[in-house]
Amino acid sequence: MSTHAAVLTGLGGYLPPRTVTNEELSDRLDTSDEWIRKRTGIRQRHVVDPGVATGDLAVEAGHRALKSAGAQGWNAVDMVVVATTTPDHPLPGTAPNVAARLGLGPVAALDVQAGCSGFVYALATATAALAAGHAEGVLVIGAEVFSNVLNPADRTTAVIFGDGAGAIVLRAGDRDEPGAVLGVDLGSDGTGLELATIPGGGARQRASGRQPRPDEGYVQMNGKEIFLQAVRRMAASSSAVLGKVGWSVDQIDHVVGHQANLRILHSLAQQLGVDKRRVVSHIESAGNTSAASIPLALADAAARSRFRPHDRLLLTAFGAGLTWGSAALTWPQTTLV
Ligand code: UT7
Repeated sequence: MSTHAAVLTGLGGYLPPRTVTNEELSDRLDTSDEWIRKRTGIRQRHVVDPGVATGDLAVEAGHRALKSAGAQGWNAVDMVVVATTTPDHPLPGTAPNVAARLGLGPVAALDVQAGCSGFVYALATATAALAAGHAEGVLVIGAEVFSNVLNPADRTTAVIFGDGAGAIVLRAGDRDEPGAVLGVDLGSDGTGLELATIPGGGARQRASGRQPRPDEGYVQMNGKEIFLQAVRRMAASSSAVLGKVGWSVDQIDHVVGHQANLRILHSLAQQLGVDKRRVVSHIESAGNTSAASIPLALADAAARSRFRPHDRLLLTAFGAGLTWGSAALTWPQTTLV
């Protein structure tokens, strides 16, 4: 087996300053703080001010991650991957402009669209590029202005999602270094397309020859079915990646799952046989930030000094597509945030 691996060297998160509490949502929707807390674990979410787009959040998080990477940051990064469901434009991708605004020069830059699994897919893209020698250092960003695609009248989605961005820097290194990404598992089931979708605005809707209804520009989700599938798929994908890297469940120090719903994270822990105390969550204060949720959860936990060098982390995500993915990595020696 090759000894090459992608190694984590930088981390940063950015949440827009404005928060929306459950009480504020209860003023305009048929919901309550009690229902939202009990069924999702969310207390508040962050929402951008008018005029702020996904690329702006990506630049903030990217800047923090590059700064935290020190010498491995601006000088070493030659590729930028932005995972997002809410790109600044249908064309071009968000990543090239983010790379330019970060002053990274003429680097490779692309977007990855894999719903809430986007960050793990982007991480896999980065690790593959590093292993193949196509890149020396990669900035991987998950960024969303999800509030743009929320139907203000739909209580099932409006209470869950929020805006934010998180980023990591990876460099080429060896598998035995702390911070190495040791394995990845990815999967999809496109027959589940209808379970979470924004039906309007794309080629499929235009090909239908009819004008989109206003609500077709918003995310539509079968929450109950997505919940069940999320637990099942993340548990199976987690087991697959653990098998690939040869870790037992007992050896995992932290499970950093996609922050969709605290009950999903706890069900996942139960299915895997992991103690709930090893589940990392920041959902209470940030809600579900889709492709940004895993790097934001990492940055939040790192800022609280929750991870120690050599700790074993399992990342796992599930989202629209349907898509899912998991990654196993160790925590680096250096303090990242
Ligand atoms: O990020 C990746 C994609 N998204 C997810 O992973 C989200 C996964 N799904 C979920 O997190 C949950 O399914 C929701 C939070 C969306 C809904 O929670 P639930 O416990 O699955 O609720 P439910 O759909 O089973 O609905 C239970 C009841 C229903 O009322 P009745 O029919 O029992 O009278 C709903 O109408 O709760 C009602 N309800 C609400 N009540 C107050 C649904 N949303 C709300 C709400 N406030 N916001």
